[in-house]
Amino acid sequence: MSKFVEVSKVSAIPDQSAICVEVEDKRVALFNFDGQFYAIEDTCPHRGGPLSEGSINGEEVRCPWHGAQFNIKSGDVTSPPSPTGVTKYNVRVSGDAIEIEV
Ligand code: FES
Repeated sequence: MSKFVEVSKVSAIPDQSAICVEVEDKRVALFNFDGQFYAIEDTCPHRGGPLSEGSINGEEVRCPWHGAQFNIKSGDVTSPPSPTGVTKYNVRVSGDAIEIEV
């Protein structure tokens, strides 16, 4: 059964940036995009690059290792070399707490 787990505070993630959080053995990239929060799997399917350390351009994040791009809202891959997208997680904000559904 899924549940929401607190992973960060709103104040910890400035707009247009991301952090990596670990929740239930998963590494998750948590983005602030125009004041809304989005969470996708942190590990790039190509060779394992950390998407939370990638550059953000609009709704996309670019993997820091070989440049694959992903939509931060959906996890879909939008540019190679990653063969697939990444898992997207539901996010909710409760007061100053950011929670992810796992
Ligand atoms: S590890 Fe992400 S593009 Fe290669």
